[in-house]
Amino acid sequence: MSEVRVKRVAIGVTGGIAAYKSIEVLRGLQQAGCEVRVAMTRHACEFVRPLTFRALSGAYVIVDDYSAENPDPIAHITFSQTIDLFVIAPATANTLAKLANGVADDFITSTYLACTAPILIAPAMNSVMWSHPATQRNVQKLRNDGVRIIEPDDGEMACGTIGPGRLSHPERIVSVALEILGETRQRLSTSESKPVQDLIDERILITAGPTREPIDPVRFISNRSSGKMGFALARAAMQRGAQVRIVAGITTVVPPSGAEVIETTSAEDMRAAVIREIDDATIFISAAAVADYRAKHSSPKKLKKSEAEMILELERTPDILKQVGLNKKTGQLMVGFAAETDDVKSNAQKKLSQKNLDMIVANDVSREGSGFESDNNAVTILVRDNPLSIDIPLSSKPEVANRILDEVVKLRRRTTSAMSAKHSKL
Ligand code: PMT
Repeated sequence: MSEVRVKRVAIGVTGGIAAYKSIEVLRGLQQAGCEVRVAMTRHACEFVRPLTFRALSGAYVIVDDYSAENPDPIAHITFSQTIDLFVIAPATANTLAKLANGVADDFITSTYLACTAPILIAPAMNSVMWSHPATQRNVQKLRNDGVRIIEPDDGEMACGTIGPGRLSHPERIVSVALEILGETRQRLSTSESKPVQDLIDERILITAGPTREPIDPVRFISNRSSGKMGFALARAAMQRGAQVRIVAGITTVVPPSGAEVIETTSAEDMRAAVIREIDDATIFISAAAVADYRAKHSSPKKLKKSEAEMILELERTPDILKQVGLNKKTGQLMVGFAAETDDVKSNAQKKLSQKNLDMIVANDVSREGSGFESDNNAVTILVRDNPLSIDIPLSSKPEVANRILDEVVKLRRRTTSAMSAKHSKL
């Protein structure tokens, strides 16, 4: 039986006000059983003293690997070649720019270039800096290089501005780090073993899986949806405190325990179930692959084959998401999916506006190893009134589900603060 080796994680701390939060990241990883070492930039030392991290990690904290005090002359190799994960948190705009362009002028950027382990970066900066095209270009470059990025949270910043840019919650960083390490969220050994309960007040209705449109008692029109994406969203939402109800088509995987499941077959069945349940939902996520067409006249008896070709007359099925989106109640959030094979973003953008959605998750379903039936997915998230799309590279559906829910939480916070600002003016 192979012995399970302790996971080794290096944390690179760069010079932002959120540097102190890396202490919580360090503690969370240690509590999950990881061995953690820390490196800092000189600027980071302005915010937190290396001694703090040394006391907590029990190891020398590298700021300048040429320093006489450094007991390890080839620290950047030791660091980069012997770890299982390199976490850079917080990452400033300057650090992102250097990493994206291969600049290696300090220990952290050199270690980044020499690192063969997965890399997880949690940026933190002023909102305007975060939204700047240059920063977004650097983030996209890093994503394209295979780096996992944890998007900053929305909220009030130390500099007084409100918006995206605040370092993601340390528990979230730890949770994603453990998932990358192949651990489960539940391996956290402390009371924080529950993921952040940021959906505790939400009642989420999720559709999952394919619908089946009968041609005759034997034949039907359907698709390859398994239900995995919808069920991953349901599972993740429940882990984060939401009450979840699922309207499922004929799925090939088992729904998560703890969710109420309403089983349906055709698009009309699914529509009727959604219309029954939607008034009680605060969020609707439409992950189901609802057939767009059905036989205009399905036969009560098996159609006999003959030498002649069989012509099927098809008609449109009801567009559930559009019907719900056009009638959404104040405060309800509508999240759709877009299964595309070309012009993914522009097709998704059209659905976002035509169906009056708050968010749409676009996936290229022609991509090998992603989308229908796969355990993985790669998605682009478009949010109404936000020109910046969020690209999530190929990841497990549970990870994609959490990233989607991260954006839902941010959207909820934005809409809540906008509504309270409006009420305070009345
Ligand atoms: O189930 P898996 O195997 O895990 O696969 C996941 C998935 C590929 C099915 C999922 O990621 C996905 O893309 N789901 C949406 C598939 C789909 O029907 O996309 P669409 O672009 O055809 O529809 C757009 C949106 O309208 C979707 O939210 C869909 O649920 C909804 N719709 C579509 C048709 C219809 N008649 N009523 C609807 O509500």
